[in-house]
Amino acid sequence: MKVSVHGCGYLGAVHAAAMARLGHDVVGIDVDAARVAALAEGRAPFFEPGLTALLAGTGGPGALRFSTDAADAAAAEVHFLCVGTPQSAGSGVADLQQLEAALAALRPHLRPGSVVVGKSTVPVGTAARLAAGLPDGVGLAWNPEFLREGHAVADTLHPDRLVYGVPDDGGEALVARLDAVYARLLADDVPRLVTDLATAELAKVAANAFLATKISFANAVAEVCEAAGGDAVALVGTMALDRRIGGDYLGVGLGFGGGCLPKDIRAFAARARELGVGDAVSFLDEVDAINDRCRDRAVELARAACGGSLADRRVAVLGAAFKPDSDDVRSSPALALARAVAAEGADVVVTDPQALALAQAAAPELGYAADVREAAAGADVVVLATEWDEYRALDPHALARVVRAPHLVDARNAVDRARWRAAGWDVRALGVAAVRAAPAQSSSPTA
Ligand code: UDX
Repeated sequence: MKVSVHGCGYLGAVHAAAMARLGHDVVGIDVDAARVAALAEGRAPFFEPGLTALLAGTGGPGALRFSTDAADAAAAEVHFLCVGTPQSAGSGVADLQQLEAALAALRPHLRPGSVVVGKSTVPVGTAARLAAGLPDGVGLAWNPEFLREGHAVADTLHPDRLVYGVPDDGGEALVARLDAVYARLLADDVPRLVTDLATAELAKVAANAFLATKISFANAVAEVCEAAGGDAVALVGTMALDRRIGGDYLGVGLGFGGGCLPKDIRAFAARARELGVGDAVSFLDEVDAINDRCRDRAVELARAACGGSLADRRVAVLGAAFKPDSDDVRSSPALALARAVAAEGADVVVTDPQALALAQAAAPELGYAADVREAAAGADVVVLATEWDEYRALDPHALARVVRAPHLVDARNAVDRARWRAAGWDVRALGVAAVRAAPAQSSSPTA
């Protein structure tokens, strides 16, 4: 099947390559010429494990092309919309300019019988509005994407579910077309759910809002543990074994960031307010506030480790990406923490295995180092802000030799506290009252 993919960012580039892997003849369209040039040479324009291999192994010549010209999508039978829908400046409302622009560029090339399939996350009601503006004979479905950065290839080729939102009118033909696109996934028994357009749009934001709520729930409990004298990591461990709850997205730490969760909960709340049901999701404001407080609490731990003030202290921040296995620094809790520490007069040095270039562009005022050793040299406190595997595996003995004082703030509860303490480190962690106290009382129940 001939397929076009509009927008070749974290979502679209992976989707285009995955569609080629599923056997389709794919053209990816993006307005960014540098991104198109990289993809055309088989290079991933951002760090995403498995994407380069997927780009390299996508069948014969012509099976996967990239272009800046929407006219190159004219032959496609299915056009996927994968552009970004960021948060508007100054409000929580989703900015749909990229979506409108991509559709405007594509519109003159839409042949009767072809279909447009939205994958971007949009405010409910967008799909019906866009459908009304399409030429006669062109259908529109909404097929939200649930992929996580860092796992995008596997999430696309082995999704938990496929959701097809279709209008009443012409819905059957759209379902048949999407079934043909995803035939190889359906053969693997991936559950496929057919809904109306509004439900499909909401399916994505509701899932993301639930995940954000789960994370903030864990971090809210962490605040109580800090005050009451408990260990939130041990506590969520007890919750995780309840099969009705499960342990995913209950990580105690710096909270959520990235290009989706923060803006999606704000856009969901903003859209609900427009619809007159803002009260139904007003708790999402609290989810956001709890998430922001995680950073404040981590800064407080760093301050305490430095004896009450961060002014003129050297602080090494391990991690800039919003999560491991990504180079994405959008709404990164690690960078927000680094900025907050710098704002208190500290000399901050940030390192990250993949996100240094993007971090430097986003926060040029901070100091940067190529690796942990360089970042930690002479540090008064080391803050673990993004739980890359290589940071979890750090040798505390070796690191103790380069710092000025062996203070660790484990803002992701990523390391084995007992091991670090045994190597002479004062370890403080979010959600753990015992390690927030003075060093003399600082042994945790696990130490
Ligand atoms: C998310 C959704 O998971 C995905 O389905 C959707 O399509 C896009 O948004 P992504 O933003 O790539 O994906 O990252 P995800 O792995 O979900 O993590 C989001 C943030 O939550 C990260 O900052 C991560 O560090 C944080 N997180 C995650 C926690 O703070 N605690 C946890 O327990 C889990």
